[in-house]
Formats: sequence, structure tokens, C-alpha cells
Amino acid sequence: MICLTLTEKSIENNLLQYQKYNDLIDMVELRVDMLEGIVPVDSIIRFPDLCNKPVILTCRKVKDGGKYNLGERSRYNLLRKLIKGKFSYIDLEEEMGRNELEISVKQKGIEIIRSFHDFNGVPGDLFKRMHKISQQGEIPKAAVTPNSFADVARIFEGEQELKDIDKKILLGMGDYGVPTRILYKLTGSLLSFCSAPGTSQGASGHLTPELMKNLYKTDQISHETAIYGIIGNPVMHTASPAIHNPGFHKLGINAVYVPFLVDSVRSFFSFTEKIGIKGFSVTVPHKQNVLPYLGVISNEVKQIGSCNTVVQTRNLWKGINTDYYGFLYPIQEDLETGNIKRALVIGAGGAARSVVWALRNYGCSVTIVNRTYESALKLASKTGSTAIKIPELSVLSMEDSQNKPDLVVQTTTVGMDPNAGNDPAEEYIFSGDEIVYDLVYKPRMTRLINRASQAGCRIVYGYEMLYAQGLLQFKTFTGKDYPQS
Ligand code: ATR
Repeated sequence: MICLTLTEKSIENNLLQYQKYNDLIDMVELRVDMLEGIVPVDSIIRFPDLCNKPVILTCRKVKDGGKYNLGERSRYNLLRKLIKGKFSYIDLEEEMGRNELEISVKQKGIEIIRSFHDFNGVPGDLFKRMHKISQQGEIPKAAVTPNSFADVARIFEGEQELKDIDKKILLGMGDYGVPTRILYKLTGSLLSFCSAPGTSQGASGHLTPELMKNLYKTDQISHETAIYGIIGNPVMHTASPAIHNPGFHKLGINAVYVPFLVDSVRSFFSFTEKIGIKGFSVTVPHKQNVLPYLGVISNEVKQIGSCNTVVQTRNLWKGINTDYYGFLYPIQEDLETGNIKRALVIGAGGAARSVVWALRNYGCSVTIVNRTYESALKLASKTGSTAIKIPELSVLSMEDSQNKPDLVVQTTTVGMDPNAGNDPAEEYIFSGDEIVYDLVYKPRMTRLINRASQAGCRIVYGYEMLYAQGLLQFKTFTGKDYPQS
């Protein structure tokens, strides 16, 4: 079940939130501690009557991440009054101690969710504590904070470790915890919480109802669902889930694509076996880290030494590099027809390596310029290219320069949000004859692209490569072409 946590300051606004997301959710959690001002108790008691979905009653104190600060006695008295309402569940903390409140709650047919929170880590006795709660006939709920991918893998062990507990809630907070929220059914959780966009109060790592229901279709995930994803650090900014998930849906493929924040590639690979991941994209800083785990690598991965797509083939992990082909896609015809013979590549990092090899493999002569000249020199000597220093750019751009490029490729992070407005090659003056290709896709118009476009150059945008490489990944994962519109 997808549960919307309601954290508005008034009952009226909570009702509006509920109505807005009603179609996307299965139940709601009313966070009474978030209400402000004088709220008539009766309006809270009536709240479940106004929803046609189950409601969890929660009044969280500050220590557990909530806002209730009037003391335990007062909280207890408030809850005693509120259980007159037709709530389906009440969330009570593990340390609250059992007393008449529980007796009244049970008499009213309200189920108790007995919760504990750990904002620092994943406690060693996590499963033991959950077992103990369940033995009291209550639903154990643990919200814990994974600090590494190994911690995330431990949360997923909950399904096996707690398999005899019918109803339980086990979720990881923060960015590491996001897969536990999307794949909640695979941790054995009864439900996963989400929050309306812009409400950070719910809990760290909550996704929005739209993402939970429409993008990830979290409530339809089962052991039959093929799991794909992207590993990186950081990774939550990635646009890839918004490419792959709609592709699966349009083709009716039972699959989900999840962002995994990964600190250790080794723990991720051992996790793939446990949960049955079929393939994944790889982003910074793991494009080289994955290489020792691959059984088969394609030629371009061998050449570039970097892999952005890993897929399972006959019990082996195969690595390919769709950045390489994605980069080539928008300019392939120009390379094949000889329209591009000379190229200038700005940057000498991982992205530049794919670009330079792709161009060299088409027989293009390449000049590399980089902030750190030594890196340019190193890449140039490996790829049979030429390295120049930044001040030499103005000479290179002159009309009579022998090496004047037909193509300029910008591969650095300069000009990317949040540093938009910077230009890594100001010394280069565009004549208007060059094709200019900036790998940065956010923003679409970088400063360099603006300059080139004003000079009349043909532009290739970073998003063109992003989409081309994404579509190739989709085909690698599913064996099917990405659906048109
Ligand atoms: P990627 O895999 O995205 O290419 P990378 O391997 O870290 O990332 O490479 C980053 C590239 O951007 C390098 O060419 C880097 O130049 P240095 O070799 O001098 O580090 C370049 N770069 C990053 N920040 C830069 C800046 N502020 N000015 C100029 N170049 C920069």
C-alpha cells in the first residue's frame, strides 16, 4: 500500500492534500503533531469519516522526528481522546509502555503499529526488536538510517528474517533508503510512505505520490518484476528513471528501474544476487570500479576503460559503454561522410576519454585542451591525438590554422548547473563553420553553446547524447526498441 503522510498545519489543508492525491494512494497517515494553532479535537476525530481510505493516527514527539513537545502525559491524553475517531491504525512508539491506551485501542478495533526510529544507523538488533513487537500482536515498524549500501542490503534481508511476521513496516531513510521505499514489497513491508511535493516534513527520503504510483508503480512490484537501476554517488539527480520506467510501462514489461546510491561496488554486486537485479546503469564515480566484476566486456569498454551499462548474460555480467555510441549517434553521418575530419575536445576526464576514442575510431584527427595540461597530454599520447594549452585555443580558432576543427566537443562539467554561466574555452573564437557539441544537458543552453550559436554554428545538445545512450541502454536491458511517443 502507498501511504500519504499528511503534514499540513490544519485539518482542512490535510483534507485538501488527501483529495488531491486520492487516486494515487491507498491510505493516509495523519500527523497530528504537525497541526498548528488551536485545533478542535472533534475535527481530528471526524477526519477518518471524510476519507474513504484507511487512516493511521500518529502524534510524533520531537525525539522521534516529530513536532509534539507538550510532554508525554499530554500526548497520551490527546491520543486517548482521538481514538474515538474511526482510525484504522495508531502509531505508538516502542518505548511508550503498554497500558490502558492499548486496551482501549484494541477494543475499538484499531490496529497498533509499534514503531521505532534510528536517525543514525541500522541497529544491530533490528530484526530481534521487530520480532518482539510482533509477539505482542502489534505491527512492528522500523524506520532506520542506512549509511552505506551494505546497510541497505541488510534492510532487504528483512523479508527473509521476518518472513513469519505477516504485517510489518521496514523502511530506510535518506538517499540510501530510497530503494527500500520503492521496492518496499521486497523488504516484506506492508506499506511505504510518501509526501506531497514540497513537504519535507514527512521524513527524509519520501518520494512523491506521483513518483510512487506512476513512475515506479511501487504497488505492483513483486518477485516477478525485473529489477534494473542506476548506481552512482551521488545518484538522486539522475534523469534515467524517467526514461526507462515509462518505456517499460508502454511496452507492458513488468520491470522497474531504481536509483541506487552506492558507496561500495562490491556490496552492490553481492546484493544483485540476493535480489535478482538484471542490469544497471553506472555513473560517476563507479564507471571504472565495476570493471573487475565483469565477466565479459565489449571492445569499447576495453579501449576506454570505462563502463556505463552492465547487463546479465548467461550468468555473467557483461559491460558495455552506451555513452560511446550515444555520443556518436547525432554526428555519425558527418563522420561517415567526412564532414568531420578534425575535432577539438575540451576536457580530459572520463567523458573525454569516450569521446576521443569514438572520434579516433572514425579516423578523425583530435586536439585535446584541458585545464590540467598533463591530463590532456596523457590522453593524447594514449589515443594518438595532440594536446594543447588553453592560450593556444585562440590560434587554433584562426581561419588559416591548419588544425581548425570541424567539430568542437565540450566534455567538462564547466557550464553545468549549478555553475551555469562559465565557459571552459573562452579563448576559442567560433567562425560559425564548426559543429559544436556540449555534453552538458542542464542547462540546455550553456554559455559556450550561446557563443557558438550566435556565431552561426550547428549545435548538438547534451540531451541528444543523453537520450541516445539511454535508448541504447533500454535496448540492452530489454532487447526491445524504446517505444515511440
Ligand atoms: P567526467 O567523467 O564527467 O569527464 P572527470 O573524469 O572528473 O569527469 O573529468 C572532469 C573534467 O572536467 C576534467 O577534464 C577536468 O579538468 P582537470 O583535468 O583539470 O581536472 C574538467 N574540469 C572540472 N572542473 C573544471 C573547471 N572548474 N575548470 C576547467 N576544467 C574543469
